[in-house]
Amino acid sequence: MPLNDGPITLLVVDDEEPIRNALRRFLMQQGYEVEVAAGGEEALEILKRQRITGMLLDVNMPGTSGVELVPLVMELEPTIALLMLTAVNDATSAALCMQRGAYDYLIKPIDLGHLGRAIHQALRRRHTILEGQQINQWLKDEVAARVAERRLEQINLERISVATLEALVNALEAKDPFLRGHSARVADLSAMVAAQMGVSDEQIEAVRTGGRLHDIGKIGIREEILNKQGPLTKQEFEHVQQHVTVGSQILAPLVHLREVIGFVRSHHERWDGTGYPDHLHGEQIPLGARIIGAVEIYDALTTSRPYQDRMPPELAVERLRDLVGIVVDPAVHQALEAVVSQRQALVFLDDARV
Ligand SMILES: [Fe+2]
Repeated sequence: MPLNDGPITLLVVDDEEPIRNALRRFLMQQGYEVEVAAGGEEALEILKRQRITGMLLDVNMPGTSGVELVPLVMELEPTIALLMLTAVNDATSAALCMQRGAYDYLIKPIDLGHLGRAIHQALRRRHTILEGQQINQWLKDEVAARVAERRLEQINLERISVATLEALVNALEAKDPFLRGHSARVADLSAMVAAQMGVSDEQIEAVRTGGRLHDIGKIGIREEILNKQGPLTKQEFEHVQQHVTVGSQILAPLVHLREVIGFVRSHHERWDGTGYPDHLHGEQIPLGARIIGAVEIYDALTTSRPYQDRMPPELAVERLRDLVGIVVDPAVHQALEAVVSQRQALVFLDDARV
């Protein structure tokens, strides 16, 4: 992988002018771009101003010493190839500099041939480190991109599976003029009730999906019983009741619908514990199931059925109040009442505009 690293600029930092000049001349002959500084402050100024690839830094300087300068340099230019220049008797300071991030040290007087090789080696080492960092970054980006792609695919699959099941529900309801659109209406009103109760957006969407799929188990109920006019026998009623367990079994393989499956299974539970299939009571019943159950009764009351005319919304809310504490959660009823009256106010406004 090529590194786009630009021209190689070296910075020579030494308080002795003859040494600075000699090093500059030599390094320019080697083809490097060269900057010089007589002390620490000046060197830091240059580092702030321009990109420096490598640095020759004298350990012993008046003011800020080379040793003190190393951490400041590394902070400004963490990938710099840093070589220390030191007197014979100062190898300990040079070793300290290497602990702080310098690559190597050269002992004065400097052998230019040795210097050339040391710079070359330091630059090569820097290149290898940068390449490694680049590969690491590239790998991290690749992994993150793959994970994001996979997640998107999964979300799409989840959407498709819910849409397919909704299509099944629609097909089932389309056969019965009294049921047409029931699940879609239950879904929308249930989501509004959930929002009114202040639950999270994620919860609202789970309730909406639960509303759309709550009766999917009716696929497993014999048609002559589903369409039967008049009262059901005990056995027939027990068969119809199975739609909640059949529904949750149909959805069971869809792990992302785990919560929704609970809503489907429990939407015929009653607040007093006399519902089905698990005889849950009160807050044992998942909130989504309590909402969908109440809204389903409201929808049955406000749409025409073979055995009844549709009831006006306010009257249906009134009728549901009789079921509070027995079938319906009091808090759900309160939220439903608020949503229905807001909706009626909007209808009234629309009518007034016409
Ligand atoms: Fe149902």
